[in-house]
Amino acid sequence: MSAAHRRSVILGTGSELPTKVVTNRDLERMVETSDEWITVRTGIKQRHVLEEGKGNADMAYHAAVRALADAGMEANDLDAIIMGTVTPDYLFPSSSCVLEDMLGARKAFSFDVNAACSGFLNALAVADSFIRTGQARTALVVGSDALSRLLKWDDRTTCILFGDGAGAVVLGTSEKGERGILSVRLRTDGSHVKTLYVPAGGSLKPTNPETVQNNEHTITMNGKEVFKVAVRSMEEISRQALKEAGLGIDQVALVIPHQANRRIIVALAERLGVPLEKVVVNVDKYGNTSAASVPVALDEARREGRIKPGDVVLLNAFGAGFAWGAAVVRF
Ligand code: COA
Repeated sequence: MSAAHRRSVILGTGSELPTKVVTNRDLERMVETSDEWITVRTGIKQRHVLEEGKGNADMAYHAAVRALADAGMEANDLDAIIMGTVTPDYLFPSSSCVLEDMLGARKAFSFDVNAACSGFLNALAVADSFIRTGQARTALVVGSDALSRLLKWDDRTTCILFGDGAGAVVLGTSEKGERGILSVRLRTDGSHVKTLYVPAGGSLKPTNPETVQNNEHTITMNGKEVFKVAVRSMEEISRQALKEAGLGIDQVALVIPHQANRRIIVALAERLGVPLEKVVVNVDKYGNTSAASVPVALDEARREGRIKPGDVVLLNAFGAGFAWGAAVVRF
């Protein structure tokens, strides 16, 4: 069968949120903020935070085990493990290698993809390409991040926004039929590198006592700029992905956007002309979980019965880089 007819299909999904919950009321005791301010500006009420002593792969593992069970597959059935993350367990090797070992996946190749909040969509695009070209028959795609590790907990402009979590999907190969990933579009704009970034801890500014003193290993962000570009970019790329799939927005049963801020999601839905009932919103419970946000929301939507066979689902994300993307999937 030629690659032109081959598609990747989502066979299973899973997610994991750490047990520790930090509410807006908890944050009121840590910084000068209020539940009301956070709720009105972001829609966030609480977020989950990874326990001390645990790493990213611990969350990814549970999400992956659930996705494999949902797909009726075992770790040794996997050809590839691709993980979107900016908070790997170690600077190297990749967290996907840590995950691979935890799962006992002995036949896979694995690597991480760094595209911040767009990490899952970028990882999905890479896995989809491997499957369509026949280099892999199956793949585990994970979005997992622990941004709590990169937060300055006394900076009220950032610490209220983020949370930790992991989501996973198992992809298989379909040689014919209508189901599967119909299109994926990705973009970046590197002129915005410093609009949202972690200044120290990389090769340009390695860790030293001064960088630690200055808190340069934490997230620095121009929130207003991110907000503005995010809405515009996600709308544009969603339309491109739909066009490539040969579908109109009216044919989309459910939109699963990156969960950064309720206001961003509402503005995006308005611009796309989609009623909010057709948009998944769980940012109130988890905050912005970076690469995990889209696969966690996808998993929840499936488990809540919001996605039926034949439904077309639009996924989109936006984050640091800036990097953004969209995918159209028929279930
Ligand atoms: N609690 C109370 N007040 C706060 C606050 C907090 N947690 N954070 C900021 N403020 C204050 C500011 O200091 C400012 O005070 P001032 O007017 O006296 O200077 C005021 O609230 C307004 O701040 P501003 O930054 O203009 O608010 P905003 O409406 O732009 O909302 C964000 C801030 C961060 C919520 C919003 O810009 C946003 O969500 N941006 C996108 C960020 C994002 O999603 N990043 C990740 C993308 S993947």
